[in-house]
Amino acid sequence: MEYKKIRSLSEKFAKIHSQSFNQKNLKYSSEFILSLLKNPNISYIYKKNKGFCIFSCNEKEAEIITMAILPKYQNQGIGFLILTELEGILSEISCNKVFLEVASNNLIAIHLYDKLGFKSFGIRKNYYSVSENKKINAILMKKKI
Ligand SMILES: CC(C)(COP(=O)(O)OP(=O)(O)OC[C@H]1O[C@@H](n2cnc3c(N)ncnc32)[C@H](O)[C@@H]1OP(=O)(O)O)[C@@H](O)C(=O)NCCC(=O)NCCS
Repeated sequence: MEYKKIRSLSEKFAKIHSQSFNQKNLKYSSEFILSLLKNPNISYIYKKNKGFCIFSCNEKEAEIITMAILPKYQNQGIGFLILTELEGILSEISCNKVFLEVASNNLIAIHLYDKLGFKSFGIRKNYYSVSENKKINAILMKKKI
C-alpha cells in the first residue's frame, strides 16, 4: 500500500482509538499503528470516520489486534458489521481460526464476541494495568470459521 495512504490512515485510526479507549495505556499511537499497517501479514477494515479493526493473518490463523468505534457510533451494530465482514474475508482466504484477547471488564466487547460465537479458552492473569495498583485479566477467545 502507498506509504502516504497508510500514514494518513494511521493518524485517523489513532484518533478513533484514543477517543474509544478510556485508559491511557491502552491507546495506540499513530506511529505504532503505522508499524502494524506496514506489516504484509496485517490488514484492516475501516468504516469511514466511524471505526476500524486491525487484524493479522498468518497461514490459517487470524488475530484481531484491535478494534475501535467512535463513542458516538457505538452500540449501533458497526462492530458487529465489521466482524461479520472480517469473517467473510477470512473464509475467502481459507483462514479458519480467529483469536482475540479482551479485558475482563469490557462487557460490551465480550457481549459482541459472544454473540458472534467466540468461545473463551483461557485467561491471562493481571494482563492489563488499570492504574498503578490495579490490574485486570485478559480473556482469550477464539472462533472457528
Ligand atoms: C467494543 C466495540 C468495538 C463494539 O463495537 P460496537 O459498534 O459498539 O458494537 P455493536 O453495536 O455491534 O454491539 C454492541 C453490543 O453490546 C451491547 N451492550 C451495550 N452495553 C453493554 C453492557 N454494558 N454490557 C453488555 N452488553 C452491552 C449492545 O446492546 C450490543 O449488543 P446487541 O446488538 O446484542 O444489542 C466498541 O464499543 C468500542 O470501540 N469500544 C471501545 C474500544 C474497545 O473496547 N475495543 C475492543 C477491544 S477488545
